[in-house]
Amino acid sequence: MTAFATMPYHLETERLTLRPWAESDAAEFCALLSERGKGTPTVEHVRTSIAELLTATATTGIALLPVQRRDEGDFIGYCGLITGRSTLEEPEIAYELFQHAHGCGYATEAAGAVLDAAAATGRKRLWSTVAAWNAPSLRVLEKLGFERDHVSTEDNGEVVWLTRSLP
Ligand SMILES: CC(C)(COP(=O)(O)OP(=O)(O)OC[C@H]1O[C@@H](n2cnc3c(N)ncnc32)[C@H](O)[C@@H]1OP(=O)(O)O)[C@@H](O)C(=O)NCCC(=O)NCCS
Repeated sequence: MTAFATMPYHLETERLTLRPWAESDAAEFCALLSERGKGTPTVEHVRTSIAELLTATATTGIALLPVQRRDEGDFIGYCGLITGRSTLEEPEIAYELFQHAHGCGYATEAAGAVLDAAAATGRKRLWSTVAAWNAPSLRVLEKLGFERDHVSTEDNGEVVWLTRSLP
């Protein structure tokens, strides 16, 4: 365990709710992952991934959370904190939304709530690592006050490391 408080797992914004994973999210999560264009995982596989996310959260106290629109009540993606390429002390913010939900400011809105949740754990700094070609994601981070720190090179291209002090 860490010296940090557990992240709040129910977050509300003007248009969105972020809440813990349920087994019933499996089909939608599966559809979301399919949009990456690298094949469709089985719902069974995705159920296992959800169970693994919940187990990891029980250990780390940080979470990726499903994002739901409040009016429509539909699952549009996820947003939250992961260790990723960084550390549990200074985790990464991560998000992924259905294409049909892009361009409405939802990622920025959800990630803003996650920044507050991260600050509430007592953390002082977050990171994000983004492929250099991913202009929409880089723009979301810019809007949230992240600043470029450095670039690393991986097998599939350049990765931009951005960081933001909390609160
Ligand atoms: C990244 C992602 C979550 C953004 O979601 P979103 O809800 O559309 O984001 P927002 O609407 O909050 O903000 C997007 C910003 O990028 C801008 N943008 C979109 N396409 C762009 C492009 N090709 N070039 C530059 N800016 C672009 C938008 O105009 C908007 O900025 P603005 O508010 O100044 O107009 C979404 O594109 C996604 O799920 N992508 C696939 C998964 C992914 O890449 N995840 C991040 C991995 S690091």
